[in-house]
Formats: sequence, C-alpha cells, structure tokens
Amino acid sequence: MALKTSNPTKTKSWEKLKSHFQEVKSKHLKEFFNSNANRAKELTIEWDDFYADFSKNRITKETLDLLFELANEVNLKDAISKYFEGDVINATEGRAVLHTALRAPKSAEVFVNGENVIPEVHTVKEKIKNFTESVVSGNHKGYSGKPITDVVNIGIGGSDLGPAMVVDSLQYYKNHLTTHFVSNIDGDHYAETVKNLNPETTLFVIVSKTFTTQETLSNANSIRDWFLKSQPKEAVSKHFVAVSTNIESVKEFGIAETNIFPMKDWVGGRFSLWSAVGLSISLAVSYKNFESLLAGAHKMDEHFRTSEFENNIPVTAALLTVWYNNFFKAESEAIIPYTQYLNQFATYLQQGIMESNGKSVDRDGNKINYQTGTIIWGEPGTNSQHAFFQLIHQGTKLIPTDFIGFVKSLHGNKDHHNKLMSNYFAQTEALMNGKTEDEVLSELKKQSLSEEEIQKLLQFKIFEGNKPTTSLLIQKLTPENLGKLIAMYEHKIFVQGIIWNIYSYDQFGVELGKQLAKSILKELENNNSNLIHDTSTQDLSLIHISEPTRPY
Ligand code: F6P
Repeated sequence: MALKTSNPTKTKSWEKLKSHFQEVKSKHLKEFFNSNANRAKELTIEWDDFYADFSKNRITKETLDLLFELANEVNLKDAISKYFEGDVINATEGRAVLHTALRAPKSAEVFVNGENVIPEVHTVKEKIKNFTESVVSGNHKGYSGKPITDVVNIGIGGSDLGPAMVVDSLQYYKNHLTTHFVSNIDGDHYAETVKNLNPETTLFVIVSKTFTTQETLSNANSIRDWFLKSQPKEAVSKHFVAVSTNIESVKEFGIAETNIFPMKDWVGGRFSLWSAVGLSISLAVSYKNFESLLAGAHKMDEHFRTSEFENNIPVTAALLTVWYNNFFKAESEAIIPYTQYLNQFATYLQQGIMESNGKSVDRDGNKINYQTGTIIWGEPGTNSQHAFFQLIHQGTKLIPTDFIGFVKSLHGNKDHHNKLMSNYFAQTEALMNGKTEDEVLSELKKQSLSEEEIQKLLQFKIFEGNKPTTSLLIQKLTPENLGKLIAMYEHKIFVQGIIWNIYSYDQFGVELGKQLAKSILKELENNNSNLIHDTSTQDLSLIHISEPTRPY
C-alpha cells in the first residue's frame, strides 16, 4: 500500500508549532537550563549503549510534544510499518525499501511480491561468510598459488562510500588484508591505487547495483587491462568477483556466476552496505565483525520500530531537523565525531541524507513551497575545531550540530581520551553558553589593557551562544555500535522524508548531468564541440580539446 500523503504545513500541529516558535525563538538555552534543574535528564534518551542528550537544543518539552503531534498527524507510525513490511514506499521507482530486511534474523518474515525475502538474504550472507573465510584464511589462492594480501573495491556512490567508511571506521578490527577503494572516473585514482599492487595477490571486488555506472565500468575495464598485462586470461576468475543485481551484464564482463554476489533492487545504493555490497567490509574485518555490524543495525531497527516517539532516538533527531530547517530556517547541519576513526562518517552521510531528501516535489507530484533536505557536512573533532568551528561559534548562520563521542577509546590512552572528550564537552557547553559582554569585560580587565584597548576588543570577543547541539555518547566504537549509529541516521532520513511528504528513495536529480556528460564525451573523443552548448560550456570544452597542442 502506498504511503499516505499530507502537506505538513497544512496540519494543525504545524500551525501550533508556528505560534510556539514565536515564543521560543529568542529564548536563550541558558534560560531553559536555569529554569529547570531536570532538563538534561528529561531531554535525554538512554538506550542500550547510547546516551542521546537532546537538552542543548532550542526546544522545550512542549516543542517536542508538538513535533510528536506533527508526526502523528502525518501518520508516521503507519509509514514505519509500511517501510518495514516491504510496501512499495519507493513509489517513483516501484520498489520496496528493505535494507532493514538485510539485518533481520533468519526467523523473520518479510514479503516482497508474496515471497519471503529473508531466506535468500541469509543464503547470500552464507556466501559472503564462506568466501570471506576462504580469502582470510589463505585457502582461496590467486592464480599463481599465492594467498591474497590486498582487496580493491571498485564502485562509486553507495557502492563505495558505505564500505569505505565502515572499513576505515573499523580499522581497529581489521585482519591482515589491506583494503583499497577506487571510485573516481579520474584515471589517476585507479592508476595510483594499482601502481604498487601485486596482481598475483590482489582480489578485485567490482560493486555496482546496476552494473551500468560509467565510473565503475571504466575503472573495472582499465584495472582488468592492467591485470592482463602480467597475468593470463584464466587468472581473472581467481582475482575478480562482482556484486550486482545485473547478473547478465556481470557475466558479459567476464565474471563467472559463482563469483557473483547478488543483491536485490529493493536495496537502495546508499543503504546497501548491509547487502553483498558489504563484501569488502567482511573481507577487511572478517565475517564475525560484519555480522556484528548487522546485528547492531537490527537492534536499532527494533528500537526505532517499537519505541514510543518520546523514547525514540531517530524520531526525535529527525523532528529536531524539521524544527531547525523549517522554523529556524537553518540550512545545514554539522556532524562532528570525536574519534578519528569516523573520519569518513559525514562524507558517507552526505550521500545518505542529501541524495535522499534533496527533493522539491511532494508525494502528490506538487512543487513544494517549504524547505526539505538539509546540507550535511562535518569532520572529526578536534581537527574541525581548528578549521571551521569559528563560523559555528561566531558566524551569522545557525548550524545545529551533532557531537558523537565514545566513553572508551580503543587503544586505551586515558590521557589523550580525557583531552579529546574534554574538548567535546567544552565545545557543546561553549556553543550553548557563549560569553556575555560582562564576562568578556571582566576577562579583559584582568589583562593589563587600557580602557580604550578594552573597548576596541570587547565586541569581537563576545559569543552569543545559544547554538544548538545534540550529544551522542556511546560506550565504545565496536562493529555493533557502529551498526546502530548508521541505522540511526538511516531512520532519521526516513522520518524526515515522511514529514516533508517527499519520496526519499529515488535520485533522479543525479541523472541530467550523467546524460549530458555522455554527449559531451562523444564530442571530446571526436575533437569537436557542437554548437549546441551555451558559450561558456562550448569554450571550456574547446580548451580541453586543444589541450595537447597548447604550449606549456
Ligand atoms: O549517483 C547515483 C547512484 O545511482 C547512487 O545512488 C548509487 O549509489 C551510485 O550511483 C552507484 O550506482 P551503482 O551501484 O548502480 O553503480
């Protein structure tokens, strides 16, 4: 059954939120804390290894109640059931959205077109397990009889970002295999990657849901050519495997069916790391850890599916985005993990969030007259503090920020971990409290400055504060907890899409550029630029065409 549609801005709760916003918008977070000693506890959700403190957000209990009312008014509960039960909620592509089924236990039942998909999910998992174990143990040998030492994942978008982020995040749990990722069509990317690799001991995993993506196929072809320069054709079957829904095209590429790890069209690219797309993860950290990652995501699925909205981390987080995006008119959100391991986390979420909710037509096909998808960015703390935090503290833009930290570090250096976490806590406190004129004044007075010098500096040193943050504190970065964290953001994306009345699971917006690139490529190959372009594009491509003859 289709998702119900309703314009959120036409609901009763939206009207209430509008007038409530007028009451709250100029209040300072400090006032909220001063007037309620229990605020931190009241606005925190503790679940499993997660402590999600929403209290440093510009909300009151009433704000949340109204946002939950909005969620009820747009039938969020019904939508959640449809999401998990395999309804065709990706209606523009006629597909279910079932990344949740990929981490469901064997005993679960999820039906697509009358067929329970869970047995096949577990058959593919078994194939991933067996293959991983034979490669990691050294039983799977390269053509010349040597064990595999390096794995190269060839894919882009969801077929790259998810596995790359997880492998990087879980490097503490890695086995002896070295994993590489080739994604960009830029020929220098694959060339740099393979230049020091030994083809005799390298396994290439070609990952493409459609097996039509220009970048992935070009990289796969060039890498196979490079491989065949030193290896016989028969060696391909020992060194190339593929993950795809498009079995026929993979076979045409020259990969035998036994070397294909299938996936289903109800797995969206940006939500696919739980499927066979995660093969590189499994190879890098061993199957046991891949399984824990999935188990963690499943726990978060259950939390999201069954908890009341008041105790529901993804629902609360999503509604806060709506609050800032649509009422405060915040344009972006920062995601700042306080661990270097999550270096690629914001980059990964950029695809998940922006490809999903960057839409301007609602589920009835109408042009939207309210804001949808937020711009996502971020880098780990403390590096980011020395890069862009100035703008979050004293700039003109409101940037709600997620702080993600872990109670325990992995290598256990207490001194560093205390310093790291003191920065996390200090930043959220500083962003909230700021520094008043009086405070700055008394600080300046303690320095031996003249009154004139004090007055000159005063305004520049004031921090307004009142910058909203959400603090996520997780026990430890384990594969299971990473699974929960990723799934948390996946469900946040879903809830936002439901509220904004958009389809979150298509991505037609990426097609136009791809089509144009194809026709321009023909022109570049034929060394002529047709006069069908605007003069800017025309001139740029002509410079490229004449490039070899230009003197440098
Ligand atoms: O850029 C659009 C997109 O379709 C993404 O959604 C997807 O993750 C990526 O391309 C790669 O697609 P494929 O796995 O089919 O090669």
